[in-house]
Amino acid sequence: MEDDMQTKLLAETPEDLSYAAELIAGGQVVGFPTETVYGLGADACNPEAVRRIFTAKERPADNPLIVHISDMDMLSQAAASIPEPAFRLAERFWPGPLTMIFKKQPWIPAETSGGLDTVGVRLPDHETARAFIRACGKLIAAPSANRSGKPSPTTAEHVLEDMKGRIPAIIDGGVCRCGVESTVISFETDGTPRILRPGFVTKEMLAVVTGNVLLDEALFRALKPDEQAASPGMKYKHYAPKAEVLTIDGSFENFCAYLEKHQGDGVFAMISNSESKCFPYPHLAFGDTPEEHCQLLFSRLRDADAVGAKTVYVRMPKPDGVGLAACNRLLRASAFRIIRV
Ligand code: TXA
Ligand code: MG
Repeated sequence: MEDDMQTKLLAETPEDLSYAAELIAGGQVVGFPTETVYGLGADACNPEAVRRIFTAKERPADNPLIVHISDMDMLSQAAASIPEPAFRLAERFWPGPLTMIFKKQPWIPAETSGGLDTVGVRLPDHETARAFIRACGKLIAAPSANRSGKPSPTTAEHVLEDMKGRIPAIIDGGVCRCGVESTVISFETDGTPRILRPGFVTKEMLAVVTGNVLLDEALFRALKPDEQAASPGMKYKHYAPKAEVLTIDGSFENFCAYLEKHQGDGVFAMISNSESKCFPYPHLAFGDTPEEHCQLLFSRLRDADAVGAKTVYVRMPKPDGVGLAACNRLLRASAFRIIRV
């Protein structure tokens, strides 16, 4: 596409938010902050506006968008039937980084739902995100604001990098608190939640509310060629910088030995801050706790390109709690290539 539009950076002020709302009313696309990652918002019920999101992102048309609401009473505008556990989960985790999939209302267009009869809904825990949606007074469809396949954006600068010239405005809300996208769940016929994408709302946290929780088994492996994905996003390449990403699973000692053997032009390691203190080769550090790993992960993958990395060997964090979200994104960034050392 031609990148010839002027992209304005907006502030989190009432004036700028009403300007952003005018753009949305005119069928345009606006980048906005949430607590997870930046979103690329448009009127969820305007097919032409939604098509502009797909064009700006170069996203495959069968990958559905999450519909964002600012208040609980907007839920029924998007969802046609709501299983009972969803109300208890909303009570506990909304506003927050949880997306729930429901049967959609008939007026949610196929463009938004990727042709499915369901819709993912999220009430974000970010003041500006909610103020923006309220100013629009509409359901806001929004995928992550990266170009399809690239790491999700956690700052307005990241959005600008990918969307400059493609969208009229980005609301700058600083750095995203979580850094990875929301937990996505669907419901089994008996109301049991199934995690389709892990995030800051963990399996353990969901289980406190609903008892049983299922983890979709396709989370940790590539789909087979003829396999139907529970979530269309599962089948696409994701989160990859230009550099080749490989995940390494094993002790730090073995990781160091492996990296020593594989030194070369453009080779970088991605390790925790504490490990980086005694690591003699080029590296990027992504925090120490699972929460920090999530918060810094996409930013560091973008940094990998900025420093000219050709290959990035990432030391796999532990897949416990929030760490599962970091592992899932890294596995996808590396196209499920794990080196066990
Ligand atoms: O944190 C987030 O969820 C961010 C912010 C902007 O809210 N949004 C986000 O959207 O990550 P996106 O489009 O990048 O990822 C949405 C994922 C995709 O993998 C998509 O396939 C899946 O959710 N999804 C959306 N609607 C679905 C549906 N009706 N059924 C199954 N999967 C769905
Ligand atoms: Mg995305």
